[in-house]
Amino acid sequence: MVNQPHGGRLISRELTGEEREQAIKNAEKLQALTVNSWVVSDIELIGIGGFSPLTGFMGQKDYESVVDNTRLADGTIWSIPMTLPVTEDEAEPFNIGEQIALKGEDGVIYGTINLEEKYTYDEKKEAQNVYGTTDDAHPGVMKVYEKGNVYLGGAITLLNRPDHSQFEAYYMDPAETRQMFEDAGWKTIVGFQTRNPVHRAHEHIQKTALEAVDGLLLNPLVGETKSDDIPADVRMESYETILKNYYVKDRVRLVIYPAAMRYAGPREAILHAIVRKNYGCTHFIVGRDHAGVGDYYGTYDAQQLVAQYEEELGIQIFKFEHAFYCTVCENMASAKTCPHDKENHVHLSGTKVRELLRNGERPPKEFSRPEVADVLIKGMKEN
Ligand code: ADX
Repeated sequence: MVNQPHGGRLISRELTGEEREQAIKNAEKLQALTVNSWVVSDIELIGIGGFSPLTGFMGQKDYESVVDNTRLADGTIWSIPMTLPVTEDEAEPFNIGEQIALKGEDGVIYGTINLEEKYTYDEKKEAQNVYGTTDDAHPGVMKVYEKGNVYLGGAITLLNRPDHSQFEAYYMDPAETRQMFEDAGWKTIVGFQTRNPVHRAHEHIQKTALEAVDGLLLNPLVGETKSDDIPADVRMESYETILKNYYVKDRVRLVIYPAAMRYAGPREAILHAIVRKNYGCTHFIVGRDHAGVGDYYGTYDAQQLVAQYEEELGIQIFKFEHAFYCTVCENMASAKTCPHDKENHVHLSGTKVRELLRNGERPPKEFSRPEVADVLIKGMKEN
């Protein structure tokens, strides 16, 4: 059986058919707030139930409880505040009880919010508790600091999903992935989050997990990422290539995760696990420095935090040690399985890999499959 949604019920805040048409007409007459693509992706994920049990942007009680205790006010585990930030000037004309249209920068009304609360917050505290640092060089913290200092809280309605036509074949909402797993007869499904191309270490941990479960949901994040991450379109081509050449077709499904990347390390690992639970996964992979950036987090901090909540989370976590290719073992390994010295381990930094690719050179095949390297080299040239 696919997993229960977080909080017990898959949320849908989306209107369809006639009701939607009518709501769009009404929304055109409402006061509108222009929101960026980050907020649009949150509206979508709340609307389609990826962020179940959330039904909207957090009010103050939930927000403070999440920041202080990694829980919603009712005690349900939740790790990252989902908030609608505005400046004081933007907040001024909106009255509690009103409906506001949420318009993207492209002019599309993606949804509406029933305004229940406006509140201010302590951005340093949010940065420290959620990201573990107040350093504005951290890409997630920088986002917190850039935001307006008022949050609007209230339930949302999704009226238009963002355009995913670029990856249409790989877009599914949680209700659809759950059905797909049922149809495939999978009882155990491991979810894999990534914002990178799939390298040998990723492949190794995915396949090790696959030995223990029925299927793998390769679920790359394709929303906003920092500028030096490899663009989603190039990554998608690299996933298609590696799946075609190295995976058992009937054991893997590739579906995009249309969220923004927070780089919140341990706290984001919890969010990532919750979302995959909502997509129906029974298991989730947390490897080394999950959702980390720079050296803000220890290699296994995310695993340790997730372990604290694992029982309550209701999704089993596969925790993997740092994996590498060992030239003596002549296979992928980790400190748990390889007795040889570090000099025998193939290790490349992200910076080094990008440099090689930019120069049109393949990283060693022990690090990256040649077919994947070729897609990335081509992609780097075009971008
Ligand atoms: S993430 O920011 O989306 O987590 P990334 O794509 O690097 O980034 O990682 C995807 C998953 O693979 C994460 O769970 C991460 O911990 C894990 N991972 C990445 N590289 C390794 C590795 N060499 N050994 C073990 N786990 C890894």
